[in-house]
Amino acid sequence: MIFMSVKDKMWQKQSLDKYLAKDNQFVKSLSAFDLMALGIGAVIGTGIFILPGTVAALKAGPGIMLSFVIAAIVCATAAMCYAEFSAAMPVAGSAYSYGNVVFGEFIGWILGWALILEYMLAVAAVSTGFSAYLSSFLAGFGVHLPTAISGSFSPAHGTYFNLFAIVIVWLITWMLSHGMKSSVRVNNTMVVVKIAIIIIFLLVGFFYVKPTNWHPFLPFGWKGVFGGASTVFFAYLGFDAVSSSAAEVKNPQKAMPIGIIGTLVVATILYILVSVVLTGMVPYKDLNVANPVSFALQKVGQNWSAGVISIGALAGMFTMMVTMIYSSSRLVYSIGRDGLLPKFLGKLQGEHHLPQHSLVIVTIIISILGGLVPLDQLTNLVNIGTLLAFTFVSIGIIPLRRNQAIPNDGFKVPGYPVLPIISAILCVGLMATLPAETWIASIIWFVLGMIIYFSYGIRHENISAQ
Ligand code: ALA
Repeated sequence: MIFMSVKDKMWQKQSLDKYLAKDNQFVKSLSAFDLMALGIGAVIGTGIFILPGTVAALKAGPGIMLSFVIAAIVCATAAMCYAEFSAAMPVAGSAYSYGNVVFGEFIGWILGWALILEYMLAVAAVSTGFSAYLSSFLAGFGVHLPTAISGSFSPAHGTYFNLFAIVIVWLITWMLSHGMKSSVRVNNTMVVVKIAIIIIFLLVGFFYVKPTNWHPFLPFGWKGVFGGASTVFFAYLGFDAVSSSAAEVKNPQKAMPIGIIGTLVVATILYILVSVVLTGMVPYKDLNVANPVSFALQKVGQNWSAGVISIGALAGMFTMMVTMIYSSSRLVYSIGRDGLLPKFLGKLQGEHHLPQHSLVIVTIIISILGGLVPLDQLTNLVNIGTLLAFTFVSIGIIPLRRNQAIPNDGFKVPGYPVLPIISAILCVGLMATLPAETWIASIIWFVLGMIIYFSYGIRHENISAQ
């Protein structure tokens, strides 16, 4: 191994059997229904409660519903590729492990690095959404936080950090570090509550829809609709996290595709309906507020429903953060265990055998981001990291099919190889619509990733030795 050239090492592919053997310790207990509940628990968080309002106001107008359709099409093609990967390779680590097996160690690392960005930023973004909803909920009882600690770093507006965003992620980490097992039953119940509350909004809001609010339908033109799609893409994010649980699933070949694609179908239907009702209730220009869904209900005099929505939104965002903090600490742990990040991150501690070090490091980063950076910048950055992972997973279907050592009797992407290629092109297309500052920030992130890989990871990697 020591004598391998850097190039050989970078492109060294790991065997699937090694991953399957490592993941053998997991109990296989999850069904397709549990996976969908897990997926909907992670996917429907801030997106549905905030983006249909803010993106309609600033980018797409009532055409926001089309933005959701476009983002859903991109996600559907990528979701099928994820479904095929997770049926063929039911292992933990999602795109990080897929990359290691079909492309080699370097791409595997880049994908792992992209996923770390995705998961951590997604939680940071949701923590700011949580904070906004909590503040408006408390304001209803006359409780107000001092301005200085109520928002991201923006001295011009008198805000320095977002206290609630920081407190909530540390609270969740404290719970997780005490071995709170994510009980499937509790998760399923929370998902039902969340969906019930969204349905309440749709039913109540429907009666206040004024079709005149949908005119003009495309005030910002098609450019606004596509620009909106790259932002609302965030709302779909998380379905890929379902594939991280593949190692714990009964009959993964059937259950994984149902879990991943089913999650996406439910989310798409709900997002489009919420956008239709929201932009029908209130002129789109008024929706640039931190909590548009409850704002719209207050505006039509439904204060009682607005309160219920806030509680549902808080619960929804809370479960999303629990799932994602848990997933990101697991991902950092597995990369640390493989030696690509310092080994102390890949160790388990305490009576509950938890990756405490990675949990704390992840939480420190999330709370700095959530406490200081505004929501729109966080969502754009998280999208670019995810789209990069989607692009590789889509293209990766080609080497996956060609690899004779990985038989797959389960789900296969239809229209191979055209559909995976279209999926990759769509992902790159959406990335291209993101603002220059997002590109610069993400390039910095990936350059940092490469520095870590070439100065540390490549010399300490020990996957093949395990
Ligand atoms: N899709 C997740 C949300 O909307 C990130 O909160």
